[in-house]
Amino acid sequence: MAEARAARDRAYAPYSRFHVGAALLADDGRIMPGANVENASYGLSMCAERTAVFRAASEGARRLVAVAVAASNEEPTWPCGACRQVLWEFGPDMIVVSEGAGGRREERRLADLLPDAFGPADLA
Ligand code: THU
Repeated sequence: MAEARAARDRAYAPYSRFHVGAALLADDGRIMPGANVENASYGLSMCAERTAVFRAASEGARRLVAVAVAASNEEPTWPCGACRQVLWEFGPDMIVVSEGAGGRREERRLADLLPDAFGPADLA
């Protein structure tokens, strides 16, 4: 969560002003953070969670066990639908921990946030 908070401080979100940091834990112990990065062409903006997943995968991580999310609003928020799907690819058993700026923390299983998910097994 400390890494997620630090990543939130690096978010580039001049349009929404909604700052999000995420930090992934890989099965080899590595922690890989990411922040949301917006764009003047709004639709090209990228969420913190997907920034972190693409970074982790690029670094060779293939099994992700947990993700910490720190957003700038008061209460904990959960990854958007697109991010849930991308997280699923490398971590169907993943635990998602979210902390609001107010300090309250909650935990969910990704499988509960994305029931009946489509994933690699469907293409096997
Ligand atoms: N955002 C994230 O980074 N993660 C989420 O789970 C929800 C939304 C970002 C996208 C955009 O930069 C801003 O928050 C407002 O939607």
